[in-house]
Amino acid sequence: MANEIRVLLIEEAKNRTQLTRALANAPVVVAGEAGFGTEAVTAAREIQPNVIILGLEEPLARSIRTIEMLHLAVPEAGIVVTSSLSDRDVMRKAMRAGARDYLSKPIGRDDLARAVLALCEVEQKKQGLSSSALQKVVQSGDVFVLSGAKGGIGKTTLAVNLAAAIATESQQRVALVDLDLQMGDVALMLSFAPERSIIDATTNVDRLEAEFLQNLVHNDPTGVHVLAAPVTPEESIEVTADQVGQVLDALSRTFDYTIVDTSPALSEINLAALERATLILQMTTPEVPSLKRAKVSLGLLRKTWQFPDERIKLLLNYPYEVPGVSISEIETSLEFPVFWKIPYDPAVGQSVRLGRPCVETKGNARFSRNVVELARSICGLRRPSRGLFGILWQR
Ligand SMILES: Nc1ncnc2c1ncn2[C@@H]1O[C@H](COP(=O)(O)OP(=O)(O)OP(=O)(O)O)[C@@H](O)[C@H]1O
Ligand SMILES: [Mg+2]
Repeated sequence: MANEIRVLLIEEAKNRTQLTRALANAPVVVAGEAGFGTEAVTAAREIQPNVIILGLEEPLARSIRTIEMLHLAVPEAGIVVTSSLSDRDVMRKAMRAGARDYLSKPIGRDDLARAVLALCEVEQKKQGLSSSALQKVVQSGDVFVLSGAKGGIGKTTLAVNLAAAIATESQQRVALVDLDLQMGDVALMLSFAPERSIIDATTNVDRLEAEFLQNLVHNDPTGVHVLAAPVTPEESIEVTADQVGQVLDALSRTFDYTIVDTSPALSEINLAALERATLILQMTTPEVPSLKRAKVSLGLLRKTWQFPDERIKLLLNYPYEVPGVSISEIETSLEFPVFWKIPYDPAVGQSVRLGRPCVETKGNARFSRNVVELARSICGLRRPSRGLFGILWQR
């Protein structure tokens, strides 16, 4: 039917039935349903909907980025946001990203149908205006950067496990980049001897198409595609931040998710990764020296480099057992909320000795279940329930 109004739902699976029901009496067809990120863009390009209804929830940066990508990929589709967040700031961000309407939950059945029809009317009036220039915008996946200005706080451990968890949970294409160019140990943690490394990419920035990248990565059994650090530190001396940026851009065009492990340095190379991050996963442990460095890093990220707060997620890791540390004291001292707490688990040390991710060797361990929930949360695959295992915080 040429005149039917085609709607695409970008929502968590559990809310989709409710939305479909809310549209039951409206003259619209729910032509497709999808999750966030590249999945949303792929579905939108395929379905070419008139209207997209998107359920905006935390993590905000991911929802906003999905709106931006949808707005560029299918500019003629009107985007209606539904959300339980009724903060004016959030609304403005959604509208700036490309949303055309914003409905705060709970939403009346007629409200949603009315919003969809109103958007279609406006779009019909706009028909004839050229949008072809916008079509050439490229689709890109999410980039999660593990950051922390101290050694031994669990950046690499989490990078390896998070990448494996995202690959399993999302069933999408995942790259893991070892950006600790001098001391990188991702290959060690996954028990492989790299035949190629990031240097093969940074010295060939004019050849970074998908096929070439595929030849550079190691295909781990978890499904993660690893771009390893150079075997010897001298190899990295001539690598520039600009080259690293180009490599990460190419990876994010090829993979749905790119996880970046970094060195503890405050370097231009790390900044190139942070600039491309959908989310900066800023890690700290509860010890004073680590907290001090986290405070300095947060200051740099927020004040000097002006990254918006919603792109920064503070992760509190316990690589060893530390008694009675109060989260609220940490938050007060850092002036930033703790997004996630990762428990100490002896299974992690065992998995490191085996040279495989804990989520693979001990899927039931506390650490593994925690990382899988974190993966689901930041990828928008499922909203974790507050207090699950008594270890999750979500703000
Ligand atoms: N939650 C945890 N429970 C138990 N052990 C952990 C946990 N997190 C990390 N570890 C242990 O801490 C060790 C150091 O972690 P890791 O190498 O990931 O730190 P890093 O921040 O990457 O350090 P560097 O900056 O020096 O590369 C790991 O060998 C791992 O066994
Ligand atoms: Mg490391």
